[in-house]
Amino acid sequence: MEYKNLLIEIADSVATLTINRPQVLNALNSEVLTELECAIYALGNDTAVKVVVLTGAGEKAFVAGADIKEMVGLNSFQCHSHALKGQRAVMAMEKMSKPLIAAVNGYALGGGLELALGCDFIYASEKARLGFPEVTLGVIPGFGGTQNLARLIGPNRARELVITGKMITAQKACEWGIVNEVFPAEELMAKAKETAAAIAGAGTLGVAYAKDAIVNGLNMTKGDGFRYEASLLGVLFATEDQKEGMGAFVEKRKASFKGK
Ligand code: CAA
Repeated sequence: MEYKNLLIEIADSVATLTINRPQVLNALNSEVLTELECAIYALGNDTAVKVVVLTGAGEKAFVAGADIKEMVGLNSFQCHSHALKGQRAVMAMEKMSKPLIAAVNGYALGGGLELALGCDFIYASEKARLGFPEVTLGVIPGFGGTQNLARLIGPNRARELVITGKMITAQKACEWGIVNEVFPAEELMAKAKETAAAIAGAGTLGVAYAKDAIVNGLNMTKGDGFRYEASLLGVLFATEDQKEGMGAFVEKRKASFKGK
């Protein structure tokens, strides 16, 4: 599929997916959300891809939120549909068996922060600013932000960020557990790709099941989560990846995983 608002580069099993509307700080209009959902499914099915790095085009922004100029004209029903569309894109990321790393290179606001939260973890540049300014526009986040942020960092800090609408620095977001690591701007993409390459070299099915255990386990009781984890580990012992990974350790050689 041809994308008008996305750039996709694939090299050494790592896809770099760039939201490309720098003239409006990569704001998410309806077309971008449709393309994003399609791209996530396509990358999920592409055997040449093992990990995705998600970022924004230009120097200033990862994504400065949903496109306010498009949203301003929506009626209540249309806005509800719009929120569900954004949530579908975020949920497609969470359900994707391959990990996504958000490389937050600038503003990650509103829907932009919601996209980053849909990734498996977030690396940010020192100049990134994160927040949910929706209340300053008279609305609330709608692409899963209230739910994902509270689950990630707890309700207390989530309420502070969402209710005040303030922006925080990458460093503060790191202290709060939203961002995993902060890098100088010029190093961010290299660091994200270095981590992506390390993941791509690990057991493909192990990586997929690890993500599955954590994402789905969070919706279970602890007992069910423990049982689910043991079942997934058991299933991995029926795969070539497990035989290759453990066999390579015993034979003191580098493993070569096939995702089978
Ligand atoms: N939607 C549409 N256009 C946007 C945008 C957005 N979210 N964010 C920035 N732009 C546009 C600006 O309108 C401007 O376009 P023009 O040149 O045509 O005027 C261009 O991008 C550059 O932006 P600024 O001139 O404003 O840049 P700045 O450096 O002065 O400010 C900023 C940067 C602080 C990020 C500011 O642009 C801003 O506050 N943006 C809006 C952030 C926001 O409120 N996001 C939440 C959106 S609502 C949402 O996301 C709801 C949801 O969960 C579903």
